[in-house]
Amino acid sequence: MKITKSKELYERAIKVLPEGVSSGSRGPLNYKPFPPYMSEGKGSHVWDVDGNEYIDWQLSFGNLPLGHAHPKIVEIVREKIASGSHFASALDVEVELAELMVSILPNVDKVRFTNSGTEACMTAVRIARGLTGKRKVLKFEGHYHGWYDGLLVSSNPQPWTTLGHPNDPVRVVDSSGLTPGSWEDTLVCVWNDADALERMLQTHGHDVACVAMEGVMANMGVILPRPGYLKRVEELCKHYKVLFYLDETVTGFRIAPGGAAEVYGLKPDIMSYGKALGQGFPVAAIAGPSHVMDSIKYGRVLHYGSNNAHRLGLYCAKTMLQELLLDNAAGFKKMNAIGEEMTQRLNQVARDVGVNMRVQNCGSMFHPVFTDQEVITGYRQFCEHVNLPKYGEFTQHLREQGVFFTGTKTLHNVACTVHTHADIEKSIEAAGVALERMKSAK
Ligand SMILES: Cc1ncc(COP(=O)(O)O)c(C=O)c1O
Repeated sequence: MKITKSKELYERAIKVLPEGVSSGSRGPLNYKPFPPYMSEGKGSHVWDVDGNEYIDWQLSFGNLPLGHAHPKIVEIVREKIASGSHFASALDVEVELAELMVSILPNVDKVRFTNSGTEACMTAVRIARGLTGKRKVLKFEGHYHGWYDGLLVSSNPQPWTTLGHPNDPVRVVDSSGLTPGSWEDTLVCVWNDADALERMLQTHGHDVACVAMEGVMANMGVILPRPGYLKRVEELCKHYKVLFYLDETVTGFRIAPGGAAEVYGLKPDIMSYGKALGQGFPVAAIAGPSHVMDSIKYGRVLHYGSNNAHRLGLYCAKTMLQELLLDNAAGFKKMNAIGEEMTQRLNQVARDVGVNMRVQNCGSMFHPVFTDQEVITGYRQFCEHVNLPKYGEFTQHLREQGVFFTGTKTLHNVACTVHTHADIEKSIEAAGVALERMKSAK
């Protein structure tokens, strides 16, 4: 594997970019000793500047349901760029995409576009506070909602001995530079435990604007909600007059047309979307019923943005959704089937080689964890029982064989509609070799 050009670029990059990248998770923390510099993507494959080819299961952190350079996306971008990239004014495509989203998302009457998942999460929290007049946000250990101050608490794995009692989790801020307010106004609860949430709402509900959560925990591998848990959360929110904010940044337009809300039969008060929505362009959204969304009318709860509803991005989002919805949403079914097959086959390889690796998935999202546990159901178990460095080793061995899994140890991998049978076979074979190498290196 040649890495000369990536090495040269990295040496230049660290002089002008912190860590040599524009988002920490892409840098040397996750790709040792430096990341491959990518130069091209087509379908399910990417190429780096040294000409190495990889099967891509990271897919721009889940942003590419149709894979790279899908012909329909290339065509729409070519066509529309010729008539202007962005007007920052009202657009026909804005109405069309919003109508399409309203037609497939549960409990959504209105949509507001923004540029990133973080901005959408930040806006959702502001709406909840503005609408209820309450200050606090209740989030969950191990859930990540972007890098907004008010949600940057207890999102990362920690030594399990430092987590405190589950009835009163120690709140760990994820960054320097936060004011006390962002910590004080953010309550933290253990996830997948409805009784724990009920106890917290009994005590703090009068002061809580919203309960914010990922429907499937997607920033600690892939951890599924227990049967009935999310429904119970919704009921508790209603009972304690707290808004239920479901962050669908990962699950939206990925696991089903209506995301986790559809899969688990939910009617959240606020939802946020990002990642897959833009098909590689920075398009995100906040959505919900009119009585919630109308709180941003006339800036009463302020939400602005010069680049909101970027014209090219909206055309891509609309084209991508139309494509996925064809033939009774066949695109979603295909992605999920590939994710399921990867999960089963990787688990089988791990059993065959005799290595404690388990793959958990939710449709097209899947993630291998190195653990002696049968199943990981929560953050604390993840912190205590998942060996993160081993994941780093595994993905390094995969990359050397032309298979690109996310290097971010707590994230997840994804399937797209254009992964092929050959991609799966080659990836599984590479996984077998990677695990054998790791076993013999012990
Ligand atoms: C659940 C969730 N919410 C929000 C975000 C933030 O999205 P963005 O990176 O587009 O700001 C992420 C990003 O990984 C996420 O996983």
